[in-house]
This record gives sequence, structure tokens and C-alpha cells, in this order.
Amino acid sequence: MPRNDLWNWLFMLLLLGFGSVVSPLKILGMFPHPAISHFQFFHPIMRGLAEVGHTVDVMSPFPDRQPLPGYTDYLLPMANLSNAIGFDSFEEQKSLNLILHYGEFYYLHSFGRDACNLTLNGEALEQILRHPPGYYDVIMMEQFNTDCLMSVAHQLRAPVIAMSSCALMPWHYERMGAPLIPSYISALFMGKSQEMSFGGRLANWFTVHSLNLLYKLFSIPAADALVRQKFGPQMPSVGEMVKNTSLMLINQHFSLSGPKPLPPNVIEVGGVHIKPAKALPSELQHLLDNATKGAILISWGSQLRATSLPTAKREAVVRALGRLEQQIIWKWENDTLPNKPHNVHIMKWLPQRDILAHPNLKVFFSHGGLMGTTEAVSSGVPIVGMPIYGDQSLNIASLVQRGMAINLDFYSLTEDAIYEALTRALDPSFKRNARKVAAAYNERPQKPLDTAIWWVEYVAETKGAPLTQPKAVHLSRFVYYSLDAYATVFAVLLLLLATWLGLLRLCCGRRDHQKGQKTKAKGN
Ligand SMILES: *[C@@H]1O[C@H](CO)[C@@H](O)[C@H](O)[C@H]1NC(C)=O
Ligand SMILES: *[C@@H]1O[C@H](CO)[C@@H](O)[C@H](O)[C@H]1NC(C)=O
Ligand SMILES: *[C@@H]1O[C@H](CO)[C@@H](O)[C@H](O)[C@H]1NC(C)=O
Ligand SMILES: *[C@@H]1O[C@H](CO)[C@@H](O)[C@H](O)[C@H]1NC(C)=O
Ligand SMILES: *[C@@H]1O[C@H](CO)[C@@H](O)[C@H](O)[C@H]1NC(C)=O
Repeated sequence: MPRNDLWNWLFMLLLLGFGSVVSPLKILGMFPHPAISHFQFFHPIMRGLAEVGHTVDVMSPFPDRQPLPGYTDYLLPMANLSNAIGFDSFEEQKSLNLILHYGEFYYLHSFGRDACNLTLNGEALEQILRHPPGYYDVIMMEQFNTDCLMSVAHQLRAPVIAMSSCALMPWHYERMGAPLIPSYISALFMGKSQEMSFGGRLANWFTVHSLNLLYKLFSIPAADALVRQKFGPQMPSVGEMVKNTSLMLINQHFSLSGPKPLPPNVIEVGGVHIKPAKALPSELQHLLDNATKGAILISWGSQLRATSLPTAKREAVVRALGRLEQQIIWKWENDTLPNKPHNVHIMKWLPQRDILAHPNLKVFFSHGGLMGTTEAVSSGVPIVGMPIYGDQSLNIASLVQRGMAINLDFYSLTEDAIYEALTRALDPSFKRNARKVAAAYNERPQKPLDTAIWWVEYVAETKGAPLTQPKAVHLSRFVYYSLDAYATVFAVLLLLLATWLGLLRLCCGRRDHQKGQKTKAKGN
């Protein structure tokens, strides 16, 4: 063996021995929003970083059950939102859609402000701030309804990687330099697909820009006040700090949510939480194996409590299910379900991903939350979606457009509507379309977790990935939208027109004048 090859070979062995990490990074993650469905996107990435040898400190309300070496929890003492939201609170709100967006915005805004207050003044952050500036190589944080934790990154002087467990909010595009085009990119709250009517586009344009403005008018100053109370009045506005966001990892994929123009600092890693399907508990395995006519899974996510479904609607669901010949598995948080048909099986907790991966599972009756929707897409399972709030209608609209989902209106839920939606979704055309979306979703050049880890290391290596940031981030909106150019062109055109009219008047005026004189002369 030539000498060089031998050295290469030894070097390879050395690398394998140390894993993929050349020098381990110190990474801080901050995720104060108390929704487990959001954390389900952050957690696999933070864990993945610890698995490849980095040191990871995670501040959140959700402790890791089996922390790896190098993974340290800093617990935030907040109540989480699991099974905390009742259907009853939505019953009254029919057809107030546009107004509802603003109510939802206000709700998220106050939620963000309170979480910020609690986090900034809590013991967990106190411990983290004992680290000197420059200690962390990278700081990762959720960007959702508040930007107040940018102040912590400012104190600790580390590049920031933002993470979004849902579609980008209207206020996220500007800071990343990503184009926001309301003619086909729906605001999260609007819940439209990329095909909108004129009315839809008008409403979306209005929603996108007004929410953006409201965020600047209310959420940024609210965060600034708390930040300055904590760190002193010299702190810059978080509205300035967010322009220092180096990278954003988003829980999206174009095949599910629609293709959008994204600059190189916004990376789609949707599906990062999906692990290979595991064996089911034996009871479920038998149930699904034996379901010769197929099975349907009903789950409305971790936050909505199925048992809070108003009685009339619950009975409509139960009667519709009784008319089906499929086996039904339903996430139901009580031991009993009144009038339960024999083909319905209730369970308080379900291994959702593994059930969706079973070949006999025919339809997923979901609320359209992104984690479950992603799992159904990845397994090619058609969806009957009953969106209630947040990004649920956005996720379902996009899959309705792709022919693999049916939208079921919660406000007009009847036995027949449920029965028809479920039987229609059992039609093979939905399965065919779901398979196409699944193929487009699952084929990647790299596993989403590997992509996420690669970019985190890249940001550390390049000290904040400055070359990925479009200059658009630092332009005023007046310049960004070329309003200065439009104004100049308009002014020049106006000037030309005025000159032309002026000349016209001058020369015609003179001719008229001369003509007048001639007639006068003739008259004489
Ligand atoms: C959420 O809180 C409830 C009650 O406080 C607790 O039982 C549950 O384990 C928590 N969920 C998570 C995911 O931490
Ligand atoms: C922040 O929390 C403190 C203590 O709970 C409370 O007194 C204060 O009013 C809160 N501030 C805001 C802006 O909510
Ligand atoms: C943004 O980052 C640069 C370079 O790290 C730093 O000098 C500047 O103070 C930061 N600006 C804000 C507002 O945090
Ligand atoms: C599944 O079907 C087999 C054969 O029809 C039957 O013996 C078994 O009891 C069934 N299991 C369940 C859990 O229904
Ligand atoms: C479960 O159902 C029983 C009987 O309908 C009812 O009395 C009880 O309050 C329910 N419990 C919950 C947690 O919904």
C-alpha cells in the first residue's frame, strides 16, 4: 500500500472514531412557547445536535425524558397547552372569519408578551446568563409571536438561528429578505391555497400588510419595554435585532405547503420529526391487521380536547361513524363515549405516526395541525381536515388543492356531512394523489435532520453566515418595493406630459392667435 493511502486510511479511522464533529459546538436553544406541537419540531433538531457531539442547552417548558450526554434542560415553569383547548370556545364564532384573524393575532401577541415576561425574569435564564458573552457558538430560538429573546442573543453575542414550527408569519419575510407576494402566498391566518379568487387576494393583501403593521405597532414595543426593563434602557429595539437573524429553519416543504421563493438563509426542513415507523402495541397491531375494510384514524391533536366537542356535534360524529364499515381509532380523553358503535375504538393516547404508517389505514380525520398533517403526507394517507385555528386551515387548503384532502366545516358539522366527507376520502383517487404528494415529500437529497445540522454547523463556521443575507433586509420598505423608482418614473412622465401640453398650448395658442388676427384682417 502506498504511504499516502495508508495515511488517508488512518485519518479516516480517526475521523470515524471522533464522529462527524471536528470541534464540538456550544449551542443554546430557547423555546418558551408552551405548545408541545411546536416543541416537537425543535426537539429532534436539538437532540440531533447533541447526538453528533455538540453541547446543547435547552430552555423550554418540556424536559427531555431521556437526555443524552451533552443535552441539558433549563426548565421554564409554565403550564403547557396539552388538551387545554375546548371546542366549545369556537362554537359561537361562525362566519366572523376576517375579524377572527385579528382576535387570533391579539391572543398570540398577549401570549408572546406574557411568555417573554416570564422567561426574561425567570431562574432558567438567570442560569444561562451566567455564561460569558461569546460562550455559545450559536443560539437557536423559536420566532413566532415575540422577538424578545433576541435580547439574550445580543447579551451573549452569538449568531442567531430562528426556527418556525409553522409557515412563516407575515412579519418574518422582511427580516430574512424573503419576498412576500400576497397574490399567491397566503397569510397563515387566511388559510388559502396558492389559487385565490380576486376577493381572496384582496383580503389576503389586506391581512398580510395589516398584521405586519400591527406586529410593528404592538408586539415589538411590548417586547422592547420588557427587554429594557431587564437589561437597561440602552438596549436597541428588538425590531433592529431581528435583522441579525442569520438563518431560519422552517417546518415546511414545498410539496406539502406550496413552493415559495426563499433566499438561501431560509431552509425548509419539514419532516424532521418523522422517525422510521415503530412496531405498534399488540392491541393496535391486531386491530389494524384485522381491519379488512380498512381503518380510519381520528385525532384532533395535542391541544384540542375531543371530549369538549358540543353534544350535538359529538352525536353527529358518532352516528356517522356507526354507518361506516371501517374500523375507527379515535383519540378520546375519557374512558367512555356515549352510544359508542362497535367499530369505534377510543384511546387517550395514540402512536399517531406508527398508526398512519400501517397499510390498512385509509383516512386520517384530523384538525389539520402541521405535525399530524406531515405524518399523513409522508405515509400517503388522505385527510379529512376540520381546521379550527392557527395554521390548520392553511395546511388543509394546500392539500385540498393537491387532491388528497377534504375540508370539513366545523361550524356546519352534521352526520351527513361527516359521512360524505369520510366516504369520499376513501375513494381511490384521493389515495393516488396522496401517494404522489408522499413521493415528492419523501425524496430528498439529504435527511431533513442532516440538513438542519449541516446548516447549524455552517452558521457557526462562518460566524453568522453573513453572505447568505440578502441586502433587502436593510432596505426601507419604500426602497424595497421600488416606490422610489416608480415615483421617479411617474414624475418624469408627468414632467414630459406637462412639457408637451405646455408646448402644444404655446404653438396652437400662437396659431389661434394668428388665425384670429387673420380673420380680423379679412373682416376689415
Ligand atoms: C403538560 O402538563 C400536564 C399537566 O400539567 C402534564 O401531565 C403533561 O405531562 C405535560 N405535557 C408535556 C408534554 O410536558
Ligand atoms: C410582568 O410580570 C410581572 C410579575 O409577574 C408583573 O407584575 C408585570 O405586570 C408583568 N409585565 C407585563 C408587561 O405584563
Ligand atoms: C448585529 O450584529 C452585529 C455583528 O455581530 C453587531 O455588531 C450589532 O450590534 C448587532 N446589532 C443588533 C441590533 O443587535
Ligand atoms: C383477528 O382476526 C382473526 C381471524 O379472523 C381472529 O381470530 C382474531 O380474534 C382477530 N383479532 C382481533 C383483535 O380482532
Ligand atoms: C367522562 O364521561 C363521564 C360520563 O359521560 C363524565 O361523567 C365525565 O365527566 C367525563 N370525564 C371527562 C374528563 O370528560
